[in-house]
Amino acid sequence: MRKLKIGVIGAGSIAEMHLGSFSMHECAELYAVCDLNEERAKTTAEKYNAEKYYTDYTKLLEDREIQAVSICTWNNTHAEIAIAALNAGKHVLVEKPLTTSVEKALEIEDAVKKSGKILQVGFVRRFASNTQILKTFIDAGELGEIYYAKASSIRRLGNPGGWFSDKERSGGGPLIDIGVHVIDLCWYLMGRPKVKSISGNTYDLLGNRSNVKNLSFYKAADYDATKNNVEDMANALIRFENGATLFVDASFTLHAKKDETTIKIYGDKGGAEIEPSLEIISEKNNTILNITPQINHATFNFTEAFHSEIDHFVECVLENKEPISPVQDGVEIMKILCGIYESSEKGIEVTF
Ligand SMILES: NC(=O)c1ccc[n+]([C@@H]2O[C@H](COP(=O)([O-])OP(=O)(O)OC[C@H]3O[C@@H](n4cnc5c(N)ncnc54)[C@H](O)[C@@H]3O)[C@@H](O)[C@H]2O)c1
Repeated sequence: MRKLKIGVIGAGSIAEMHLGSFSMHECAELYAVCDLNEERAKTTAEKYNAEKYYTDYTKLLEDREIQAVSICTWNNTHAEIAIAALNAGKHVLVEKPLTTSVEKALEIEDAVKKSGKILQVGFVRRFASNTQILKTFIDAGELGEIYYAKASSIRRLGNPGGWFSDKERSGGGPLIDIGVHVIDLCWYLMGRPKVKSISGNTYDLLGNRSNVKNLSFYKAADYDATKNNVEDMANALIRFENGATLFVDASFTLHAKKDETTIKIYGDKGGAEIEPSLEIISEKNNTILNITPQINHATFNFTEAFHSEIDHFVECVLENKEPISPVQDGVEIMKILCGIYESSEKGIEVTF
């Protein structure tokens, strides 16, 4: 069997999850690695037995052997690289967020349509088994109509520094970096309703608190705390056309007792908590039940979710199927993220 030849662009922290998953896949061959940092590109290629390494992604895209790429670079480069890859006839897996503006997101969507290639957005939480199990209950109507969701992605200390805290390269702070995951997951499980209005707030009162000692956190490959012009935290109330609402907050730093990821959805027949651990709330014989499924990963498991995301990408490319996280979903989530920033900047609710 001929294996799908893969190029991974960006060889920093999260690329490890892509590289590990591709290199273990029986239908994929990790063929090339690219990073602006030559040493990083070279050592990563060596570590994963990739045949080639590049420092210029345009050169990687000229390589006719490569059929698909994973884009694991700074957010502000996703659009340029994704469009060039699609135009070069490659299938694309692009890390979240799709890009940094709605305009660029629409340009990527246009390039997908014109190229006829697969583009999957790396909304990795959709691929976690606790999400996929819950989805089967939702699809079977067990929760009824979902009308409310509430999600928090709170770090008390965790500004990753480097490009993450440089708005030009990241597009924003915790909202676009970690809030995106929980917003997307709620929206996906709510049945992807159309957004109607958004009221958002962002705060930049605490800085990155790089002075704090004795508490470790996720850092960019090129960690640098000297520049920080992104928000410390954001919150928003998002209204959808079907009347449903989503309340969300996300922080890089907050005077909170502990880090917290909670994702809860409520329907007219039942509810569910996805994080911190999958539980389904139901009612039977006039009694309220908390149902705890017996599963391997009741909470988000990084490695398992990335394996599943990459398995899905390979399968979609080989079988020419639309991914469960297609480009149009990346565009809708971009509208929500940008809407929150716009609402906060203007100090008013924005409508669509
Ligand atoms: N799905 C998740 O859970 C998750 C987690 C972390 C990061 N991410 C996303 O992954 C992407 C990368 O994040 P990271 O944490 O790995 O950052 P990182 O800083 O650790 O690594 C980024 C790498 O990209 C390289 N790079 C940047 N521009 C490039 C270009 N034009 N060509 C080649 N290489 C380039 C940098 O040199 C660096 O090595 C971001 O979009 C981020 O939002 C996703």
